[in-house]
Amino acid sequence: MDNWQPDSWRSKPILQQPEYEDSAQVASVEETLSKYPPLVFAAETRELRRQLGEVSMGKGFLLQGGDCAESFDEFNAPKIRDTFKVILQMAIVLTFAGRCPVTKVARMAGQYAKPRSSNEETINGITLPSYRGDIINNFEFTEAARRPDPARLLEAYHRSAATLNLLRAFAQGGLADLHEVNRWNMAFVENNPLKERYQDIARRIQDTLQFMDTIGINATNTPALHETSLFTSHEALLLNYEQALTRVDTLTGKPYDCSAHMVWIGERTRQLDHAHVEFFRGIHNPIGVKVGPGMDEDELIRLTDKLNPENDPGRLTFITRMGEGNLEKNLPRLLRRVKQEGRNVVWSSDPMHGNTIKASNGYKTRNFDAILGEIRQFFAAHAAEGTHAGGIHLEMTGQHVTECTGGAYQISDDDLAQAYKTQCDPRLNADQVLEMAFLVADHLRS
Ligand code: PEP
Ligand code: CO
Repeated sequence: MDNWQPDSWRSKPILQQPEYEDSAQVASVEETLSKYPPLVFAAETRELRRQLGEVSMGKGFLLQGGDCAESFDEFNAPKIRDTFKVILQMAIVLTFAGRCPVTKVARMAGQYAKPRSSNEETINGITLPSYRGDIINNFEFTEAARRPDPARLLEAYHRSAATLNLLRAFAQGGLADLHEVNRWNMAFVENNPLKERYQDIARRIQDTLQFMDTIGINATNTPALHETSLFTSHEALLLNYEQALTRVDTLTGKPYDCSAHMVWIGERTRQLDHAHVEFFRGIHNPIGVKVGPGMDEDELIRLTDKLNPENDPGRLTFITRMGEGNLEKNLPRLLRRVKQEGRNVVWSSDPMHGNTIKASNGYKTRNFDAILGEIRQFFAAHAAEGTHAGGIHLEMTGQHVTECTGGAYQISDDDLAQAYKTQCDPRLNADQVLEMAFLVADHLRS
């Protein structure tokens, strides 16, 4: 890799970074972090890259989801457990419907830094720096809270470590038992106002598990029924944090960003000659790039040249986030060009970020039907172009929040105030996410 160093990004232009007052303190925190243990092991990261290689060949599906921004305040076991549970519930439905393995990647254990459309926020005539995620500053609207604090980098590391520890325990320790996950899904369907719509798949999964039981395939003799694997991911926005957690793997001699298994570049920081693309080209993790409606075909190919010169399947995931309508207009030309040039990528759909609107009462929200609409257009575009719709990327939570409108419970603009808890973008709640899974399952089946 010519001229790449873990710090070569520092000589490039960079956007969306905090302005700290004390640069010596930042340097000291970076030094501390660079001596801490890595959060993930490179061999796990390689396994994810292998699985994504299968996905890019049409032999698997990527399910990525979690908070828009994790919060230091809501750092507790029920919160982590509930998001873990819905990811698993969704995965079982998608696996059954798609007849292919589902690779689960959480937006958790490090999703703390946020790009913002504006550097400042004004409320009642007072202007302060924008909230940029708990790894940078505090959501509270006071001058002290909004000041970027380098100590938060260490805090984010420790919270990521504890979150990851619990996720690993859940995945291996019995909470992921397939029979249990199925019971949660049956309860969801039973209570849902639109249960007739979801009953069919839920019952067939139930029958399959019972059949397996009958012929003696059970959790005692088949570990796959009792445990699962879940990978972690986040937007690698703060490159000093990512650099400090980048380690040379002793088995392969290659650098890996060990802050998470997968990291992605946001729509706002993916300029070809900027710092983020520079840092990402040298790490060996599987990586994602967000792709908005304005992406040009040539630019997309140049990105693949830079980030995946060896055309390795599984290295690069394009996460499209265009908005319902815009996707239909813009995705086909990109799919065609990437296919023409023979580039191996995973195509995943983030149907959230292109569908953000302001409700009549001022809340930032997203509508269930628009989200579903973008997913449908994503599947349709791939079917038309003969490419593989490889995954979905959702902002979601296991909690019963009211942040996105619509769904079976018909959350309206007026309901948003009831439980609007996000510090950043509106998330699908547990019920909405499962409905989405059952509706996406119909597409996977066909
Ligand atoms: C996000 O995923 O939270 C995000 C900021 O997305 P994007 O870069 O697509 O705007
Ligand atoms: Co978001």
